[in-house]
Amino acid sequence: MVEFELRERDGLARLGRFPTPHGVVETPALLPVVHPDRSRQPIPPKEIRSRFGLSALITSAYITWRTEPLRAVAEADGIHALLDFDGPVMTDSGAFQQHAYGHVEVTDEAIFSFQRRIGSDIATVLDVFTEPTWSEARALEALETTSARARKAREMHHGLLAVPVQGGLYPSLRVRSASEASEVGDILAVGGVVPLMEQYRFSDLARVLIAARPGLSPGAAVHLFGTGHPMTFAFAALFGVDLFDSSSYLKFARREALMFPDGTYPLDAVREPFCRCSLCERRPLTELAKLPPEERVVALAEHNLLQCAQEIALVRQAIRDGTLWELAERRAAGHPALQAGLRTAVRGVRTFLPTEPESRRSFRVVGAMSGLRPAVIRFLAHLEKFKAGRGPYKERSRVPLTPEALAHVPTHDRSGAAIAWEVPTPVGRVPLELTELYPVGVYLGPEPFESAADRTDPSPEEPVEADPDTDYSARWTERQLRSVLDWVLGSEGGAALAAKGLEGHRSPRTGRLRSVTGPSGILFSVGNDGLPRPTWRGGELLHATLPFPARRIVVDEDAVPFVSGGRSLFSRHVRGGDSSLVPGASALLVDGQDRLLAVGRLLLAPPEMGRIARGVAVRVVAHGARPEGELPEEEPEALVPPAPDPRDL
Ligand code: GUN
Ligand code: ZN
Repeated sequence: MVEFELRERDGLARLGRFPTPHGVVETPALLPVVHPDRSRQPIPPKEIRSRFGLSALITSAYITWRTEPLRAVAEADGIHALLDFDGPVMTDSGAFQQHAYGHVEVTDEAIFSFQRRIGSDIATVLDVFTEPTWSEARALEALETTSARARKAREMHHGLLAVPVQGGLYPSLRVRSASEASEVGDILAVGGVVPLMEQYRFSDLARVLIAARPGLSPGAAVHLFGTGHPMTFAFAALFGVDLFDSSSYLKFARREALMFPDGTYPLDAVREPFCRCSLCERRPLTELAKLPPEERVVALAEHNLLQCAQEIALVRQAIRDGTLWELAERRAAGHPALQAGLRTAVRGVRTFLPTEPESRRSFRVVGAMSGLRPAVIRFLAHLEKFKAGRGPYKERSRVPLTPEALAHVPTHDRSGAAIAWEVPTPVGRVPLELTELYPVGVYLGPEPFESAADRTDPSPEEPVEADPDTDYSARWTERQLRSVLDWVLGSEGGAALAAKGLEGHRSPRTGRLRSVTGPSGILFSVGNDGLPRPTWRGGELLHATLPFPARRIVVDEDAVPFVSGGRSLFSRHVRGGDSSLVPGASALLVDGQDRLLAVGRLLLAPPEMGRIARGVAVRVVAHGARPEGELPEEEPEALVPPAPDPRDL
C-alpha cells in the first residue's frame, strides 16, 4: 500500500506526499510528459526539476519499448539513465496509443514486466482505453479486462502500481472500476478522459470524477490522465485529483499557442508583451514570433511549462489557505465550459460534504456560483434542522452581535414571552444569534458594498417595542451561547451542557462572543468562525455530558501514551469514532474504555482514518496533566525516505 500522507486539504484536494524509490512526490503534483528520446524532448528532464521546480515526471514505457535503441538503453541502464533524471519517474503503458492509433502491439504482461525491468517508480497497468462513445456492454467488457490485468500485475509487482480507472461515461462502471482499482492500486489513474478535455466537456469530466469518487480509496493517490492546461488544475484538484500529467505544454507549443491559467493565446495574435514571467522578462512575448521555428517551440514550451508550474504552486497555496473553491471559480471565469463543469460540481455537493472542512478563515464571493458552495449548502441544511420545532420567527434587519447593538433588540416582549428574530443575510434568513457562524460571519460578497439605498426590499422590521429601560445584551449573550451549543451538539447536547452553568463572555475590544466559562474555568474559546472550541476542561465537561460515541475518536492502545502526552494522533492508530465529525471539527480523543486522553481537531474525516497509511488524523490541541512516568522519546512512526540528493538540483 502506498504510504500516502495527507497534510492539508480543501474541497476534495489534498496537500499530501508519498515516497517512491527515487524520492518523495508532493501532491498535488504535475508530472510533465517527457519523450524517452532526448532528441525529441525540448526541455531536458533535469531542467524540468531545476528550473521549473517540478520534481516528478511521466514517460511512455510503450514508446521506449517499441523504439529499439531506446529499449536497449532502458533495459541495460534503466529508465532514469535513459532520461538522465534521478527523480521519481512514472511510466505509462500504451493505452493512450491504443486511443490514438486504434491498437497497441504489446501484451499487458510484456509491457508490465518491461516497466519493472527498467526501474519505473510507478508502473502502469495496460488498460483498455474506453472511448466516451462506447456502449455500456463494450465499456464493461473493457473494464473487466483492465481489472483482470491489474490483479495479475499486483501479483508480480511489489512496487508502486498505477491502475487505470475506466468505465466511459457510465457512472456505475466508473465506481466499479474505481473500487476494483482500489483493491490493488497505489495510484488510481482516472483515464479515458482525454477526448472530454479536448472537447472542453468539463461537465462530463466532473460527472466522471463524481461517479468514481465513492470507489476511490482515500489511502491511494488519484491521478488524472491528460490534464495539462493550467486553467483546469484548480478544478481537477477540487475534485480530489492528486497527480496531473500532460504533454500539453509541448503540444500547445507546437501549435504556437501560449497557455495561461485563464486561457490560451495564439502566438500570432500577440501584439503586446502582456506576460512578464521570468522568461518573458528576458524575452518579451512579442519577440517569440521572430525566432527560428525550433527555438520558438522550445521557448513556447518553456513558457507553457512555467505557467503550469506556477499554477500548481498557486493551487497548493489555495489548499493551505482554504481558498480552492475561490480559485476554481476564478479560473472557471476563463471559459464557460469550465463554469458548466463547476455547476456540475455544486450539483454533486453530496460528494464533497463528508470531507468539507467545518469552517474556513474567509468566504469570498467570486461569482454567481459562489453561493452554491458546499459550505453554504451544508449551512442551510443544518439551519433547517436547527429551526425545526423553534420559532415562530419575526423578521428584522441585521445588527452586529455586539452588546451596544443588541442592547435595544428585545429578546422578550412585555408579557415576558421570548421573541425569536430572523435576519436577512446573503445566504438567506438566519436567526440573529447565529449570524457569526461560518460562512455567514466571514462572508465577503458584494452585498455589504451596496449602499442601503440600492436595496429594493423594504426593511421587514416588525413592530415590537423594546423596553427603553431594559438592556437586553446579557440575555442575547445567553441566547447566543445556547443556540451555538445547540448548533454544534444538537438541542439535547446543548441543553445538557447549558445545565452545567455556562457563561458566555464578549471580547472587550470587538464585542464578539469570545469565550465560555463554567465553575471550573475557561471551557471554550470562540473563533472567527463563531464555533466554540473546547479547552481541556471543556473537553472534560463534554466527555462527562455527551454519551459515547458522540464527538469521540477512539485511540489505539499503542498510541495512548503519546496522545495523552500531547502528540498528534496518527491515522493508523485510530480505532473508530463519531462518523458525523468532519475535518476541522473538535473531538474528544479517548481510549478503548472511553477515558479522555486529549482534545483535538480533525485533519481527516472519520472514514479516512486508518485507511490513509501515514500521518496525522487528529491534531491534539489540549491534553490533561502529563501522565506519570517518562514519555516515550520516539514518534510512533518512522520518517519517510530522504528527499533526492540536493547535488542533483
Ligand atoms: N493517457 C491518457 N489517457 C490515458 C488512459 O486512459 N490510460 C492510460 N494508460 N494512459 C492514458
Ligand atoms: Zn511569460
